[in-house]
Amino acid sequence: MARKKIAVIGGGNVGQTCAHVAAVKNLGDVVITDIVEGMPQGKALDLMECRSFSGIDVDIMGTTKYDDIAGSDLVIVTAGMARKPGMTREDLLDANIKIVKPVAEAIKKFAPNSIVLVVSNPLDSMVYLTASVTGFPKNRVIGSAGVLDSARFACFIAMELKVSPRDVQTLVLGGHGDDMVPLVRRTQVNGVPVENLIPKDRLAAMVDRTRKAGGEIVALLKTGSAYFSPGSATVTMAEAILNDQRRVMPCSVWCEKEYGVGGYFMGVPAVLGATGVQKVVEIDLNAEEKAAFQKSLDSVKKTVQEMKGKGF
Ligand code: NAI
Ligand code: 2OP
Repeated sequence: MARKKIAVIGGGNVGQTCAHVAAVKNLGDVVITDIVEGMPQGKALDLMECRSFSGIDVDIMGTTKYDDIAGSDLVIVTAGMARKPGMTREDLLDANIKIVKPVAEAIKKFAPNSIVLVVSNPLDSMVYLTASVTGFPKNRVIGSAGVLDSARFACFIAMELKVSPRDVQTLVLGGHGDDMVPLVRRTQVNGVPVENLIPKDRLAAMVDRTRKAGGEIVALLKTGSAYFSPGSATVTMAEAILNDQRRVMPCSVWCEKEYGVGGYFMGVPAVLGATGVQKVVEIDLNAEEKAAFQKSLDSVKKTVQEMKGKGF
């Protein structure tokens, strides 16, 4: 069986992490594409020289030519400016339209049959842009955010309870902004509702920390944003698709009637498998959760409308 081919467009912090984690998992050959001559080639060679430590055989190449992504099964878009302290993800809109649009055009031209995972911010708008420019069926364009946001919430709960994060199941819905929707009611520690284990006020603080978790790391790093966990989250989604695992993961997917979204990419649970999004999973939200989801949707809509107003 031929190996799968994974293109990572944008060889910066998140892109290099995606390439590393995908290679270590032996998911397929990886092509890192960037506009900075020498950088993707250098990172790819470094990763090639890593392979004997991981016992893997896949090839990793670096390039500045988009045509090298030809034949990719999966494309991960991490090209784009990252936040600096004091910036929101929405502040990246103008800069990242200019970057993601030509990237999407290149995907359309050179990897027309690929499934695309978008990471660049503002996430839900950049997925919308990529889907519009490629014209791909909506099941083949997916945004990476909910897996990361849910892992962050699980991490804070695990830290509080001093248990393994593997035993914490969480679900964060909504757009990838500071009004995302961590669902406390759906959060369990191996079947035990988290509300039985942590007092309400502490849980509220963890919900707030989850919403602002990206900014917390930006404030610490000062020069950019998180990359180990975003890269790992994205490769978890890639693995579900490339290996047809049909895992249920929160991610930014096209919703029409689902959750009453009405034609936007929005963070909801979806089944990810060989064809991309195989199903959007609808769960009941109570009145408070619905209101929070609507607020987050309003933010996503506002940014998408602003982007459309710029005539992307
Ligand atoms: P970075 O600055 O380390 O890397 C971005 C890379 O994109 C740079 O190497 C740059 O040369 C490259 N690039 C720019 N234009 C390009 C083009 N036309 N073609 C190919 N490559 C191009 O930034 P980092 O930390 O890797 O973040 C990347 C993006 O991902 C940012 O927009 C960031 O906000 C977003 N992000 C999203 C997350 C999510 O959960 N959805 C989490 C973390 C970051
Ligand atoms: C994050 O959540 C900046 O979106 C990026 O870390």
